[in-house]
Amino acid sequence: MIGRSERADATAPAEVRLSEETIADPYPLYEQWRQDASVQPVRFPSGLIVWQVTGGPEARAVLTDPRFSRSLRGLQRRGILGLGYAAGASMLTSDTPKHTRLRKLISRAFTTRRIEGLRPRVLEIAGEFLDEVGRHDVVDLVSTLAVPLPAAVVSELIGIPADHRDHFGRWTSTLVSTPTNPAEEEARRQAVLDQHEYCRGLIRSREAELGTNGVAEQPDLLSALLVAHGADRLSEPELLAMINLLVVAGQETTTNLISNGMLALLTHPDQRRLLVEQPDLIGNAVEELLRFDSPVQRTGMQVALEDVPVGGTVIPAGAAVVVLLAAANRDERDHPEAGQLDVRRGAKDHLALGFGPHYCLGAQLARMEGAVVLGGLLSRFPAMRLAEPVTAIRRGPSSLFVRGVLTLPVRPAG
Ligand code: HEM
Repeated sequence: MIGRSERADATAPAEVRLSEETIADPYPLYEQWRQDASVQPVRFPSGLIVWQVTGGPEARAVLTDPRFSRSLRGLQRRGILGLGYAAGASMLTSDTPKHTRLRKLISRAFTTRRIEGLRPRVLEIAGEFLDEVGRHDVVDLVSTLAVPLPAAVVSELIGIPADHRDHFGRWTSTLVSTPTNPAEEEARRQAVLDQHEYCRGLIRSREAELGTNGVAEQPDLLSALLVAHGADRLSEPELLAMINLLVVAGQETTTNLISNGMLALLTHPDQRRLLVEQPDLIGNAVEELLRFDSPVQRTGMQVALEDVPVGGTVIPAGAAVVVLLAAANRDERDHPEAGQLDVRRGAKDHLALGFGPHYCLGAQLARMEGAVVLGGLLSRFPAMRLAEPVTAIRRGPSSLFVRGVLTLPVRPAG
């Protein structure tokens, strides 16, 4: 989440700060930035100057241009990412050919069939959480449903035993936070180390149980991955980075889709009514909710390997670059009346799941979870309403990266 911007003088880069006001609603600021210039340098809270891309066409150009690198080592060497960023190079922080190799390997295990096979479990898990929601006059949808459900699904997918899932939830929240001081930086580093130690044990126990079954027959993604990588072995750091990425990428993102999405529907009664009357629109609605209030606000850091012209501006060699996906998703050139929520729009060309080679690997699962949960909430509780005035709903976390809702108290029966 991006904070307020101020300029000391006309030529200095705007300052990006995490402030209450823009954590509550960053979109006016995004609009202002995009109108100033869809590609411009800003100063991040750490002091780093980052070239920020806020326009849709410019975002797609950057995300498909190999002259922008994600390589963790390169970013660390240039001081763009700190050395404390100890998660290790994953798919998301690698360029081709390493990225292609890692993505190909996981794609052998993370297949459409495996995701579709999860659907009955997702329905079952969602049913249990929806029952719990229905037991209360007033209930917080975030802690009762939006946080535990994606954690349960991603744990089930990977094969993390149910009684270990709380640790994962805690590590993930620490990992997606934006550290603002050395103590928080240290907490983040420690969370990665703790998670790695736990995962080493999990890998050893899975390896001992693999048997002779093929990839498709393995009971969970971790076992499938251990079989799939076969001769083209993942090194232990690669495997740990991959599990870490899946756990982090699959949880808070989906949590925020559910809570941002439900908040948007509760504050747009006409749109909710439309969905209650026409439940078949749920697929379109999930796309629109992803676009309208994107759970992942921006991409990971990149670096320009040479001077690259984008939208009439030259991003200089060596510059740090991020794409503000949530700002690009409100670009009128791509989405007329972009500030309006319209669940019939159903545009799949939004950037909420990324674009180009790093397009979200879990997109199919994210869409399925979104449709099952939001569709389930609307059909079970068609009269649901907020239990507090909308102005009392607190947005968060305090992160440059993700945007969600801290608590969402509702009256399920209306
Ligand atoms: C609503 C939920 C989700 C949203 C909004 C989301 C969003 C994104 C975005 C924006 C990216 C690209 C980031 C960048 O370019 O820097 C991405 C990549 C990724 N996502 Fe998701 N994601 C979601 C759910 C999931 C789930 C459920 C999983 C897996 C369990 C997952 C796994 C990944 C992985 C592995 C990548 C990296 C792909 C690569 O580097 O090739 N995501 N996601």
